[in-house]
Order: sequence, then structure tokens, then C-alpha cells
Amino acid sequence: MLLFPKDFLWGCSTSAYQVEGAWDQDGKGPSVWDVFTQIPGKINIGHDARIAADHYNRMERDVQLMADIGIRAYRFSISWSRILPQGQGKVNKMGIAFYSKLIDLLLEKDITPWPTLFHWDLPLTLQFEKDGLLNPYIVDAFTEYADVCFYYFADRIKYWLTLNEPYVYAMLGYGFGCMAPGRKSMTEPYLAAHHLLLAHAKIVQLFREKYKHINNGKISLPLNCDWREPLTYKPEDTAAAQRALDFFLGWFADPIFLGDYPESMKVRLGDRLPAFSTDEKDMVRGSADFFALNHYTTHYAEACSEGFENAVPWENGGFAEDQHVKLSSDPTWEKTEMGWNVVPYGLYKLLHWIHKRYGQPETYITENGCAFNDQLDNGCVNDHQRIEFLRGYISECHKAIGEGVKLKGYFVWSLLDNFEWMLGYSKRFGLYYVDFQTAKRIPKASAHWYCNLIKSNSVQELK
Ligand code: GAL
Repeated sequence: MLLFPKDFLWGCSTSAYQVEGAWDQDGKGPSVWDVFTQIPGKINIGHDARIAADHYNRMERDVQLMADIGIRAYRFSISWSRILPQGQGKVNKMGIAFYSKLIDLLLEKDITPWPTLFHWDLPLTLQFEKDGLLNPYIVDAFTEYADVCFYYFADRIKYWLTLNEPYVYAMLGYGFGCMAPGRKSMTEPYLAAHHLLLAHAKIVQLFREKYKHINNGKISLPLNCDWREPLTYKPEDTAAAQRALDFFLGWFADPIFLGDYPESMKVRLGDRLPAFSTDEKDMVRGSADFFALNHYTTHYAEACSEGFENAVPWENGGFAEDQHVKLSSDPTWEKTEMGWNVVPYGLYKLLHWIHKRYGQPETYITENGCAFNDQLDNGCVNDHQRIEFLRGYISECHKAIGEGVKLKGYFVWSLLDNFEWMLGYSKRFGLYYVDFQTAKRIPKASAHWYCNLIKSNSVQELK
């Protein structure tokens, strides 16, 4: 058995739009996703998240489900338009009451709440009236919203996350158009991302000035990155893999941990990459108290001189044309239902890469998990593939810790089956199976397995 450090934090993650439902209940305003899901053809077989896993109305029982597994931390997101239905201005007290109760119930069960302020459900008014993330106005609007959340909840929160995966919101929402707000541009992703970085940094500044002292809280943001393994040892392929990581993770982590965008991005993107002023650089640099990583898969990377069309463009980690990187997979790699390669060593290598490049930061994996074709059979779901997936990735975490990586915690994506964005309910990521007709929850075999892992604080070694 591979034993983890005594204080290692085991958790689960969800996000508001994917689990809550109650899209217009108790004064909630609409978000870009409430509208995007209504555009014909955007979402798998016309699914939407008006009800989702109905977590909003089942929150107390869901907290009990977390306690049943024994998780020590729960990462959820706050729906901006539940708190500020118009994006700014008047506060919806019923929204505050919902999250306040959730936080209290978690604390009663000794589960540390890890709220994310923004997991892609931008209030619709800010999209319609202010042009969403393309307008620098978003920086102040986001800071105003964060201020409200800190005001009401900072007394009980120790770990804050500002915004989830800016890469995805910028690239899939403004580049490939497959996520809200559905724009397709080769310039806008870089502008949207720039504004997200500035908003993040300004929120962190506000937090440190006004709220940190209340609970000695820490703050960061979950950045997602797949691993890029050089296809060959040729220097051009090694360089291609590095470049791909620059465009995926360095895009955000370099400004935050090192002070500016990666050189490779500046050189290749020219004017399309906005520049930080000196004051902005100072504000962004150091705006994370720890590294929060979401990780799902790995590809081989090789240099290619021309841009090229990827079969699934958004899986390339950005525009292939901008990077001149061609991705591929090993035919022996197992795939999840998402078509994502199962390569546990990719997480191990990425953890080391982060450790080295960003000065050995304390790190939490705020999402890792998989979708498989889970079947309900006689009231049970025997998701052995998920157990093997988790065992593989968690074992690699253990190895990295043994070699000095300061990994402090791990969150499974996800607690519950939920609304998987443009793929609707067709992909199940949960430790709990959800019957979307009745909203009934059934623990999968992996929920029992994770419970035992947490109890023993160890994982069985892979043969
Ligand atoms: C992440 C995202 C989650 C979830 C997961 C699985 O990128 O933060 O919301 O959908 O991927 O696809």
C-alpha cells in the first residue's frame, strides 16, 4: 500500500451550472449557459441544465453523500447570477442563503468548503450589455461580485478559487465557439484570457487587502493542462512539446508565477497577444497562494511546419496554427468515454514540470477523473474502469510526492454525474450515479473504493 502524508486532503469537485439546476428559482438571473443551451445544435441531443442533478433542491442530502464517502474537502462553484441576478448591483439574498447554508452544513460535517467564484456561467446581462470578456469592464464587474462573496462568506472560508480554467472559457468560448458564448475568432481568446487574468489578479488584491486577515485564507485559481510527451527525442519535438505546454498552461501560469506571458507566445502571436503594463504585471505576479491544477489526459507532441486541422480541434490545447504542434496518441493507450487517453505518468511528469518551472509551489489537484459508460445493474454500478483510472493517477501522485513535489491534496471530478457542457448528460463523471429522470443518487463501486482510500489514506500499488 502507498501511504499518503498525514494531512493530505482528499476531496470531490462539482460546479454550479453542472449540478444545481433551479435555473430561475429563488430570484436567480440567467447566465450565458442558460441561453447557449437553447441554441439548436449546440448541445448533445438538445440537453440543457435547467434541472441538472437538482442539487439546489437536494443540497442537504448531497452533503450527507459527501460525508458518507468521508471526503475532507468539497470544491463547488458559486453561481454569479444567483448572487447578483443582473451581474452587478442588487444582491439576491436567497442566493446568499443557499451558499451560506451549504457552507454551514459542510463545516458541521468537517468538510472544508472550497468555493470557486466563477465556473463559466457568466450573468447574461454582462454578455448582452457589456460584451462579456472582450470588454475590460469585466474586471471591475467581477471584482464587485467577488467582494460580495467575500463579504458574506469569508468568515467561514479558508480556501478560495477565483475562476475555473480560463483556458477553456477563452479558447472554447471565444476561439472554437463550442462553449458559451459561442464565438469563433483567432484573436478574441487572447483578449478574453487577458481580461480574465486581470480580473483574477484584482480580486486577489482585494482579498488580501480587505478579507484575508479574517480567516488567514488562501486564494488561487484552477488551471487546466494536459501533458505533452515529445513523440521522439529529436530536439524539434522536445521543443514542440514545451511550446504546447507554454500555450496551454504557461499562458496563465507564467504571468501569475513568473510575471509575463511565455516568450514563445509573444513571438508567435505578435499583436494578437495583449501586453501587460508594468503595473499590471506587478498586480498579476504573485497572485496565487498555491498552484491549483485540473488534469485529464496526455498526447504526444511533434513539430510540424504548417498549421493543421485536428479531428477534434479543442483537444489540441489551442490553435494548432499558432503553435505548429501536431498531437497524436499511442494506440496502446486506453481511452475514456470522452475519447481521452488514460496515461497516469502524464500527471506525474506535469507535476514535476510545474514544480521546476514555478518554484516548487504547494499544489492541489482540483480536478482529475473520467467518464465511462456506467450502467446501472440491479441497483449497482460496477465502474471498475474508473477505479483503475483513479488508482493509476493517484499512484503517480504518490510517486511525485516521494520525490519532493509539494502536492497537498486531490479532488475527484466529480461527486455526481452531471451536465457535461456541450455533451449534455451523455458523459458520466460521478462517484455517484444520477438517474436524471428521478434525480436519485446511487453510489458507484468507485464511491466505496474512494471511501476506503480516504479511510486508509493509502492506495493499493499498481502491479
Ligand atoms: C473540466 C471542467 C469541468 C468538467 C471536466 C470534465 O475542464 O472544469 O467542469 O466538465 O472538465 O470534462
